[in-house]
Amino acid sequence: MRQLLDEAAKGGYGVGAFNVNNMEQIQAIMEAARETKSPVIVQASRGARSYSQDRFLYHLMLAATELYPEIPMVLHQDHGNSPETCKSAIAMGFTSVMMDGSLMPDGKTPSTFEYNVSATREVVEAAHAKGVTVEGEIGCLGGIEDGHGAGVDALSHLTDPDQAVEFVRLTGVDALAIAIGTSHGAYKFSKKPTGDTLKMDRLIEIHRRLPTTHLVMHGSSSVPKDLQDIINQYGGKLKPTWGVPVEEIQLGIKNGVRKINVDTDSRLAITGAIRKVFWEKPEEFDPRSYLKPAREAMKKVVAQRMTQFGQAGHAGDYVPIPLDEVARGYQQHLAA
Ligand code: 13P
Repeated sequence: MRQLLDEAAKGGYGVGAFNVNNMEQIQAIMEAARETKSPVIVQASRGARSYSQDRFLYHLMLAATELYPEIPMVLHQDHGNSPETCKSAIAMGFTSVMMDGSLMPDGKTPSTFEYNVSATREVVEAAHAKGVTVEGEIGCLGGIEDGHGAGVDALSHLTDPDQAVEFVRLTGVDALAIAIGTSHGAYKFSKKPTGDTLKMDRLIEIHRRLPTTHLVMHGSSSVPKDLQDIINQYGGKLKPTWGVPVEEIQLGIKNGVRKINVDTDSRLAITGAIRKVFWEKPEEFDPRSYLKPAREAMKKVVAQRMTQFGQAGHAGDYVPIPLDEVARGYQQHLAA
């Protein structure tokens, strides 16, 4: 992933990191990547790994690399709760891991700065030895994802810029997730966010202090009204809600954001498409009759984000560097 993010920094664009649990989601992302000629980050949370029993996910990813050889792709562990989780992902062949030491291994309790540094440092050492990239997190996101998250108010644990600088220096992470008022899931904001609820000024300040660190925006689904409407039109019961406007993400990309995490928008697209089939054709019982439109709906929203983040058109810019070569690069950097 380090190479993808370095290339994105050179080109001044962002790369979407899309969550997956199953075959249809991987296919949707790869089709969107092919259509828009985008490099891509596919990510799996701990919940996704357990849902797919790891090996299914791994072989689906291998199939994706076989079928889409022209697309540079990363398999990333989203929100690793402990060094052990990250190490198991590395052993399985993930090319990037997130060590979320902002929370304790229970994935719920905010941790201390010292714990975060020590757990993240441990993962950086293990990962870099294998050429694998590490994302760390400082500050806590709001909401809960796959059982992971403090469930705190999104503004109560914002990233402190001084701590961010110190954290990067002490850990050597390749990318840094920051808390600027976003949260996981569909219910991020009760109205269109303003500077009081989505702290883009904080992001800009962190980028000013860490101009060469790749920043990561979590909780970055835009929760579009049209996708909410489809769900509600066909029997769903979503409450009114707002996500992160795409123009704010684009402002982030101008200020050091290279990885943008998106899961909820895909979930909304899939659910809306399935509900529509169930509503309109209650006699249907072939899973393909609803999974196919679901896959198509996810592909559409992912392709749109790829274009909006600027990664579209960049798949052919470079050839992925093998992990052992990346590992040698990290070693030389350390020795220098
Ligand atoms: P969303 O819930 O906004 O899609 O965020 C996903 C995410 O940050 C995964 O780590």
